[in-house]
Amino acid sequence: MVKMKILKTNKHKTKFVAYAATSIDGKISIDNKKMPDWTSKEDWDFFQKSLMKFDAFIVGHNTYLTSEKYISKRNAFVLTSKVKMPIVDGSVTFVNPKYINLKTIFSKYKKVAIVGGGYAYETMRNLDMLDELFLTIEPIIFGRGLELFHDGKKNTKMKLLSVKKLNIKGTILLHYKNES
Ligand SMILES: NC(=O)c1ccc[n+]([C@@H]2O[C@H](COP(=O)([O-])OP(=O)(O)OC[C@H]3O[C@@H](n4cnc5c(N)ncnc54)[C@H](OP(=O)(O)O)[C@@H]3O)[C@@H](O)[C@H]2O)c1
Repeated sequence: MVKMKILKTNKHKTKFVAYAATSIDGKISIDNKKMPDWTSKEDWDFFQKSLMKFDAFIVGHNTYLTSEKYISKRNAFVLTSKVKMPIVDGSVTFVNPKYINLKTIFSKYKKVAIVGGGYAYETMRNLDMLDELFLTIEPIIFGRGLELFHDGKKNTKMKLLSVKKLNIKGTILLHYKNES
């Protein structure tokens, strides 16, 4: 009886939090080979400060290739179809969700950040591994480009927790919680 109580107390649920910046028309990038150069300093500062709170990071292969210098020093898991079993390269692990259970891999972490791009956000949403979303909307319209959630097949109800204006030009930071 006592043993069971201890086990219950130690059990934690991993929290998955996504960070994304979009244009007014909801695009995360114009092409998949370039790191966004249109986001504000205020968003970048918020993003970098926020990342300090996380034990692990999830990123899609395209985003990893555009941002390798920022990601390669972190405890990062890169989603890719190019491997079968996980491949470890320093602090970075390449994983294929087709062959491994992401829920099991991340169960030992308390807070996991999902840092994009569109395939990675959608993969995690589809697996019900998206608890919160910090969405920065920059005052720019592309009229083309990559969707925030790529090729999704279901709806996810979210609740808006806060809205913050980050600068004078009108960059908006929205904080959502998954209500599904
Ligand atoms: N504005 C923002 O907040 C933000 C955030 C992050 C990234 N970005 C930008 O977005 C662009 C990249 O985005 P993206 O939509 O192309 O996608 P991405 O999610 O970065 O990368 C897609 C790739 O990741 C792998 N992948 C993702 N999910 C997978 C799954 N379930 N199973 C197997 N492999 C999976 C695949 O790689 P393989 O081809 O190796 O199989 C896929 O081609 C870049 O320009 C990046 O800089 C913007």
